Amino acid sequence: MVMDRLTTEVSILRDNKELIGKGRITGDVIHDLDVELKYRRRGIATEIVRKLIGLGGRRLFVHVKNMPAIRLYQKCGFEIVDDDGRFYKMRLMGGE
Ligand SMILES: CC(C)(COP(=O)(O)OP(=O)(O)OC[C@H]1O[C@@H](n2cnc3c(N)ncnc32)[C@H](O)[C@@H]1OP(=O)(O)O)[C@@H](O)C(=O)NCCC(=O)NCCS
Repeated sequence: MVMDRLTTEVSILRDNKELIGKGRITGDVIHDLDVELKYRRRGIATEIVRKLIGLGGRRLFVHVKNMPAIRLYQKCGFEIVDDDGRFYKMRLMGGE
């Protein structure tokens, strides 16, 4: 199958090149968001999600039990628009 959608990665690194956090976007779908355990609750994921929104991120899927991620995405302007019992589909509200 031909891949017609580019995936772009946003990474936050420390001075020594240590990976602190990353997230990816394919089309308008945000995925693979992850912040290293010791760097959590410092706004790193918020920064990554804002950058991914800037790159066109508008949708994502999150496990219904992943409350930290759900709260984070809600703070960033996403709302739950669908629920298949395991995953919520969230969409960026407001703006476009
Ligand atoms: C979810 C995750 C990316 C959040 O990263 P983070 O850098 O700690 O997030 P931030 O510091 O930007 O948090 C922003 C807001 O999200 C919410 N939040 C984040 N972690 C939370 C937690 N453990 N419990 C409750 N709310 C949480 C809070 O509202 C927080 O704002 P506050 O700190 O002012 O209260 C991180 O916990 C992680 O990597 N988890 C494992 C991978 C994962 O679940 N990825 C998402 C897949 S869809």
